[in-house]
Amino acid sequence: MQKPPKMTCAAFLLLLILTNGGSCKVCSYQDVLNYLNLTADSSMFRLTRPVLDHTHITVVKLDIIVYAILAVVEKTQTFVPFIWASKQWKNELISWDPAQFCGITQISVPKDLLWKPDLYINEMIEKDDSPQNPYMMVTFDGTVFAGDNIRVVSTCKMDVHKFPFDTQECSISIGSAIHCIKEIRILPSSNSSRVTQFSQQIMKTQGEWEFLRLSVNNSILSYDNKSWGLLIYTVRDAHLTPAKTTKSESMSGAL
Ligand SMILES: *[C@@H]1O[C@H](CO)[C@@H](O)[C@H](O)[C@H]1NC(C)=O
Ligand SMILES: *[C@@H]1O[C@H](CO)[C@@H](O)[C@H](O)[C@H]1NC(C)=O
Ligand SMILES: *[C@@H]1O[C@H](CO)[C@@H](O)[C@H](O)[C@H]1NC(C)=O
Ligand SMILES: *[C@@H]1O[C@H](CO)[C@@H](O)[C@H](O)[C@H]1NC(C)=O
Repeated sequence: MQKPPKMTCAAFLLLLILTNGGSCKVCSYQDVLNYLNLTADSSMFRLTRPVLDHTHITVVKLDIIVYAILAVVEKTQTFVPFIWASKQWKNELISWDPAQFCGITQISVPKDLLWKPDLYINEMIEKDDSPQNPYMMVTFDGTVFAGDNIRVVSTCKMDVHKFPFDTQECSISIGSAIHCIKEIRILPSSNSSRVTQFSQQIMKTQGEWEFLRLSVNNSILSYDNKSWGLLIYTVRDAHLTPAKTTKSESMSGAL
């Protein structure tokens, strides 16, 4: 390693002192918000899809992880997974130079401050009232990250004939409520093997159903010459046999 000449070091120090830069500068997250003109009543960030040109497509990258399978009810054809949905997209109205703000690369902002993609789950038949995370993370290049826990009460067409020694497959399809594929495109962040692995790692409770696999597929819904992008997540699970259930009960009893 070659040491820089003494002269340059001194000149650099002098420059630091003159510009009052370096470690003396203090930056707050509020400075970033002020720079962006992002205030609680600035509607420009909220009202419409945040693109600089209306022909730009907003790409939403989505990941779903299954935390728990709360219920699989064949009688009512109801499937209730508890999922974590993480989304990211670009807000073209937001960008800052971290170097101007002491290296701040991301800030968290209340969810209702910015536009969010209007994603919904087709099969969901009950409104979810799980506690919501109130913030989203925004990075200096305008990428917005949002995550939600959702208790999905969904309909699922199940084959009841093999009950209770059966496996079932239930899907949740996620798409934008009004934006067609020319406006919002939804892509999976992780492939099927990855989301299966993630889910298996964090699965908290399986009840009487054993989680087997989560797979993700792209799909397109067409209606009236318009197309909407969909991501379909399919959960495959097996009903634990009475023998297995007894075994796990006695095991937990021994602890
Ligand atoms: C914020 O608003 C001021 C005054 O209206 C404007 O000069 C400035 O360019 C805006 N900042 C950004 C990042 O748009
Ligand atoms: C799925 O993603 C993981 C990690 O991103 C990668 O290693 C793996 O090869 C992918 N699997 C398939 C089938 O594409
Ligand atoms: C999803 O795609 C995989 C291959 O990537 C395929 O094996 C599977 O049948 C598809 N599932 C659905 C529900 O279309
Ligand atoms: C759909 O498009 C076809 C061909 O472009 C046209 O003939 C038809 O009238 C359109 N239908 C509707 C409902 O707009």
